[in-house]
Amino acid sequence: MDIVDGTGRAPVGDPRERPIVILLCGLPGSGKTTFARQRERETGAIRFSTDEWMADLGLDFFDALRDNVQARLDRLWVQLVGRGLSVILEDGTWQREERDEIRRIATQLGARTELHYFDVPFNELWRRLEARNVRPPYGAVPITREILEDSRLRLQRPDRAESSLFDRFVLHR
Ligand SMILES: Nc1ncnc2c1ncn2[C@@H]1O[C@H](COP(=O)(O)OP(=O)(O)O)[C@@H](O)[C@H]1O
Ligand SMILES: [Mg+2]
Repeated sequence: MDIVDGTGRAPVGDPRERPIVILLCGLPGSGKTTFARQRERETGAIRFSTDEWMADLGLDFFDALRDNVQARLDRLWVQLVGRGLSVILEDGTWQREERDEIRRIATQLGARTELHYFDVPFNELWRRLEARNVRPPYGAVPITREILEDSRLRLQRPDRAESSLFDRFVLHR
């Protein structure tokens, strides 16, 4: 018997399919959460947003427990992928080193890897954030122009060489 859901697609967790680790890279306001939610609805892959977990736990965005929460979530997604489930990691991953580490673990677990880079011009990011700041959605905090400028300096953009190391690379503009 074929294992398919109502859409005719093999569901996430089908033992015949390798799980996918979907990594989202981009600055605040670039559309990561919007995309992750849509992808979650379409595929049933499990979405990881540290910001939302902090909110769920009643913790402030910048609470000192953030590192503990992050470490626990990292263990959880690794466990899920090990069980054959696909995950969406939407935290932004600005550092090349972080992305290398996630790719290494995913590959070791036999998962496919997908990198999405959200390359949105600064002015457009600021336009979106100004609008979002009026009433930040659950788990989001207001982002000032200074924070955005600082993030831009810290982001290590995936280059061509890095993107070719993933099974799939998608550029969102
Ligand atoms: N492709 C897009 N075009 C225009 N606006 C978008 C797009 N994707 C998201 N937005 C809007 O921009 C804001 C930031 O999106 P969000 O998904 O929260 O970004 P991030 O999670 O990267 O910070 C939201 O208000 C969202 O509705
Ligand atoms: Mg977000």
